[in-house]
Amino acid sequence: MRIERCVCHKVEFSTVKRWLESHPGATFADIKQEFKCGTGCGLCAPYVRRTMRTGETVYHHIVTERDEPLPPA
Ligand code: FES
Repeated sequence: MRIERCVCHKVEFSTVKRWLESHPGATFADIKQEFKCGTGCGLCAPYVRRTMRTGETVYHHIVTERDEPLPPA
């Protein structure tokens, strides 16, 4: 298994990572606005949040909302 992008909007997590590097302090909401990640089926959302947290861009295991929940508002 190789998970490396938002399937709904065809955005690779590596693209999100590069964008984050030039947008320090960006939030998940900012990424949703820029790339639409998380606005379709939503399955990519925890992967995107892990990319934000760790810089990983390729996953070989399932990451769920429980693993990478939205931070408290
Ligand atoms: S995979 Fe990203 S919204 Fe569906």
